[in-house]
Amino acid sequence: MSTHSRKTIENRFAEACELHSRAEFSAAEKIYTSLLKHVPEAGLLHYNIGLLYYQKEDFQKALSHYSTARDLAPQDPDLLFNYALCQKQLGQIRDAAASFRQLIQFSPDDPETLYNLGNCYRELKEYTQAVESYQQVLSNNPSHLPATRNLAYLFHILDDTENALTYYNRVLHLDPDNSQAIHMIVALTGGHINATPSEYIKDIFNNYSETFDKVLLDDLKYAVPEKLRSLFDSLGYPVKSFSRCIDLGCGTGLAGRKFGELCKHLTGIDLSEKMIEKAEEKGIYDILQVAEITDYLNKRRSEYDLAVAADVLTYMAGLEPVFAALAGATRQQTLFCCSTENSEQPHFHICSTGRFAHSRDYVLQTATRYNWRVVKMVTTNLRKEKSNWVEGTLYIFDKT
Ligand SMILES: C[S@@+](CC[C@H](N)C(=O)[O-])C[C@H]1O[C@@H](n2cnc3c(N)ncnc32)[C@H](O)[C@@H]1O
Repeated sequence: MSTHSRKTIENRFAEACELHSRAEFSAAEKIYTSLLKHVPEAGLLHYNIGLLYYQKEDFQKALSHYSTARDLAPQDPDLLFNYALCQKQLGQIRDAAASFRQLIQFSPDDPETLYNLGNCYRELKEYTQAVESYQQVLSNNPSHLPATRNLAYLFHILDDTENALTYYNRVLHLDPDNSQAIHMIVALTGGHINATPSEYIKDIFNNYSETFDKVLLDDLKYAVPEKLRSLFDSLGYPVKSFSRCIDLGCGTGLAGRKFGELCKHLTGIDLSEKMIEKAEEKGIYDILQVAEITDYLNKRRSEYDLAVAADVLTYMAGLEPVFAALAGATRQQTLFCCSTENSEQPHFHICSTGRFAHSRDYVLQTATRYNWRVVKMVTTNLRKEKSNWVEGTLYIFDKT
């Protein structure tokens, strides 16, 4: 304190706050941490350092500074809110829920606290409490769109179709172009739809990317990539037999990981930029691009000799455009490995899940129309939906 008068400290702190507000994080961090040596018990300083680390996505350090600030000012609601958000970022969901509940004692109707508490319950799969929290949000803020959307989704997975429809309709009332609500209302009322809006797919998978691998592999027992690969192995092609492979709707790269070694060059495309980011982390693709499958293929001529679409055609209604586009983008004798969910209806239908199921006859006839001949096909379980298996078919086609 000797060399730093109170005034000097205040000025330096103001300077750091200014830099911080301009997102000059390194310069701000330097001053903040130097000030800690002089005023180690300044709650506001710890709080600001916590905010800075949170913005830099160093959540562990952020939590540690929020925690010190909290010991110094336990009743500060903003601090507690940020502390809870940080716990959530670190995956400490139960602790985050406890912090949000504590915060509700200070401000029982705060919509953001209730909404975030609902999100914690949703992640913990404590759906009844999640519904309660979101409904409390709406009791004071009936136009809170995220809470309305989450209620629609939760009632849907709780098999409460009537309430799901009520909330999807409310979503539409608040946001008339909401593609997810439009799509799900058709799915839940058994209507007909010719195409899935790209916005809907992007929306789902951008929100799903963080937990996709864990949820699909552990919870839903998703096994399409390895099952497709073993079907493919029965054809006896050695590794690196193909020069250019395209993984259509590559997602986070689960199928790319299985098929990558068969080819010298692997491209992955997907509508969801967040899924592509996750695929990038795996380092298995030579090219990754955010793109719609049919659009992308229509711009290519005779490029690929292997194509994969694992659990992707289930997001398409009619398959004519994709078989046609793939025929143009691939070489003679290209192999195409894909999966579909089975439908007992003549062509395809939209399931209450929002995905599509296609009849085997329809898939085979459509493939033939665009010069794809089936080489292998097998009916199998694709993944779980709640406690039931979803049955589908794996196909390998070659281009005649
Ligand atoms: C269930 S995931 C499967 C991902 C990956 N193939 C796998 O086996 O793990 C479906 C993926 O297809 C993508 N997708 C669906 N329809 C698409 C389209 N028309 N164009 C591009 N990507 C699409 C989604 O964004 C999502 O990442």
